[in-house]
Amino acid sequence: MTKMDWGMKNRLSRIISPKTGHTVMLAVDHGYFLGPTTGLEQPWKTIKPILPHADCLMLTRGVLRNSVPPEIDKPIILRVSGGASIVGPELLHEGIATSIEDAIRLNAAAVAFSIMVGAPYERDTILGLTQVVDECQRYGIPVLAVTAVGKEMKRDARYLALATRIAAEFGASVVKTYYCENFEKVVDGSPVPVVIAGGKKIPEKDALEMAYNAIEAGAIGVDMGRNIFQSENPVAMIKAVREIVHNGANAKEAFELYNSLKSK
Ligand code: 5RP
Repeated sequence: MTKMDWGMKNRLSRIISPKTGHTVMLAVDHGYFLGPTTGLEQPWKTIKPILPHADCLMLTRGVLRNSVPPEIDKPIILRVSGGASIVGPELLHEGIATSIEDAIRLNAAAVAFSIMVGAPYERDTILGLTQVVDECQRYGIPVLAVTAVGKEMKRDARYLALATRIAAEFGASVVKTYYCENFEKVVDGSPVPVVIAGGKKIPEKDALEMAYNAIEAGAIGVDMGRNIFQSENPVAMIKAVREIVHNGANAKEAFELYNSLKSK
């Protein structure tokens, strides 16, 4: 086993709680291909009240520089892949869109890069990941690989385990993927920790159940966006998610907490 560099370990311990081994990452990077996503039209207005309850913040350099005050004390996961949009012809054709030099300048604790396994440009995205990992290794920066899924791909355990394993094989420190039935298969096939994305907004009860099931299956946390910031009560929702991820609450307990916080 390779001995992990001190800087790499230190950065990882900033995004994954050394106390619980778990993490609640707040994802607000959606604009990089979706434009002004509902709830993120004025990013800081949305992020500010939720941020104290997140372990780290995942976003692009544009929103970071223009909307987030540099005085915040939360670790940043900087999205460095991009180059395609929801309205363009090649949604799944992302490349390296931000240099590691800029990630260092922005004091990023980690960077995020999407790979599109099974899509026409999978090779480009996987080789993009390897390039980012190589550069990040030089400076002790962990890479969060995101296994984005195209419309035509089935989000089942077989596919997600494949995509997750490929990301880990090429050096990702953590893999972000989607929850699915038999999620144990995805986690068990990965030599590195796995977190789940929330996906499209669903009822709070369902999102909490998904988070609980993912943790039960071995995920170390969530990198959740819309199911938090598009919630009727984002602060109550992130607190409920935290109860599951860090404090061992089940979905029912977390939903009760959500409701009680919401009604206050
Ligand atoms: C897409 C992404 C996101 O833009 C985002 O982080 C997803 O978060 P959520 O699905 O919880 O809204 O990673 O691949």
